[in-house]
Amino acid sequence: MKIEDICELDVKFKVDDFILIIFGGAGDLTKRKLIPSIYNLFSHNFLNSNFKIIGFGHPYRKGSYHDFIRESIDEFVNDKSDNIDEFINHFDFITAEFDDNKAFLKMINNINKEIHEHIIFYFATPPFFSKMIIKNIGENKDKFNDFKKTRVVMEKPFGESKESAKNLNSLLHNYFEETQIYRIDHYLGKETVQNILFFRFSNIILEPIWNRNYIDHIQITVSESIGIEGRGRFYEKSGIIKDFVQNHIMQLISLISMEPPADFNANSIRDEKVKILKSIRKMDEKYIKDNIILGQYSNNENIAGYREEENVDPNSKTPTFFAGKFYIDNWRWADVPFYIRTGKRLPEKSTEIYIKFKEPPLKLINDHCNFYDSNSIIFKIQPNEEICMNINIKKPGIGNVVHSTFMNFNYKEIFEINKLTEYERLLIDCIDSDLTLFARQDEIEEMWEIVDPLLHLWAENKLLPKQYPAGSWGPFDSIKIIEKDNRHWRK
Ligand code: BG6
Repeated sequence: MKIEDICELDVKFKVDDFILIIFGGAGDLTKRKLIPSIYNLFSHNFLNSNFKIIGFGHPYRKGSYHDFIRESIDEFVNDKSDNIDEFINHFDFITAEFDDNKAFLKMINNINKEIHEHIIFYFATPPFFSKMIIKNIGENKDKFNDFKKTRVVMEKPFGESKESAKNLNSLLHNYFEETQIYRIDHYLGKETVQNILFFRFSNIILEPIWNRNYIDHIQITVSESIGIEGRGRFYEKSGIIKDFVQNHIMQLISLISMEPPADFNANSIRDEKVKILKSIRKMDEKYIKDNIILGQYSNNENIAGYREEENVDPNSKTPTFFAGKFYIDNWRWADVPFYIRTGKRLPEKSTEIYIKFKEPPLKLINDHCNFYDSNSIIFKIQPNEEICMNINIKKPGIGNVVHSTFMNFNYKEIFEINKLTEYERLLIDCIDSDLTLFARQDEIEEMWEIVDPLLHLWAENKLLPKQYPAGSWGPFDSIKIIEKDNRHWRK
């Protein structure tokens, strides 16, 4: 199929009509991500004309709700057209506290007044409000004309530990079927993250070598140059483990290492991810002390340190950096280390997965191997979306000299189409009732089970972050983690 045909498919695609209720409808997430994404979907004709959006919560302080929508589009949409007024007419707002049952009844009334194929509740609120909102919807379940059409979308972090995630899951299951629950991890909405599965399972040459016999180790780096962006209150409670390791990192590990699913259905894919999560080696205190490093950025030149950020305790012990080694104890991956590094205020924004293969058994061309580097595949997830493969070739000229070089696939060079952003893709899937890119109950609970021991040690002050200057690659000890195994970070 030609690229133009693929674009044509996208152009023809339209979702069913829906009503979307956004709790925290005038909040930060709604402004930065949800409204711009819905606007883009609207502008690119993905939406059926019969859709409605109701914001619910505290009103916008600087004007009407429609002013809020307009501002969001002004600030966060690059490609605007003259359809903004028409778009805004799809929005309404209910001013209410989240424990106000009357307001919930009013909302249900509004929903019942019109017929919509899908009724979506989006929790764009701090996790603290989730239980209250779930109960207020659930206890009024019989007042809906058709409760089966409802679904809930929950942002990460889902819970704060395995136990709290389980509690939240069982509260949700009091009222909703699992198929009505969409737990978002926006990393799954990224094209290049989805491409991990396509690349792995549509190229037969990879499967025979995708295992402990050929792979030496895997590195996952998710670095951000930004700090906490005014989210001190949230970050103090969350830190890098709850903000990144429990969710984004676990998703990346699962996708890169899972077995081929029986088919491409949501449950088949999620089954395989869960098997991986269950096989990740459990960490005790000794393992954690030997293999995990936490860090916290300190000030450097003009950049404020974490402890100087707004709403952050000046003695805070919250980690903004994580480096560590995981093992997956199954037949495919036994003894292959997965080195993970992620943090804020690192030198650059970059997300990549580096698969490093073993060296060939005999170095036939041994004497001139200065440039020799065993094979590797790098998934560059952002910002430059590429898949690169490192191969060794003969350097032209006299003698037998090996030279390492890359074979590259670059998204932009091949596909000039406008890709959907993560939230656009996930919103479409949610309206379209496709759960593949959302986390299932057991997946979330297994992810917490892996990080819970880290959180316990941290809470007991037995795993404290080491300081690193903003703009560096984290505390020095994070280098030792990999170098003691005679390996090194790619960057
Ligand atoms: C969010 C985290 O989930 O992901 C933020 O809460 C982080 O702290 C963001 O900045 C990074 O997302 P992306 O898509 O820019 O890598």
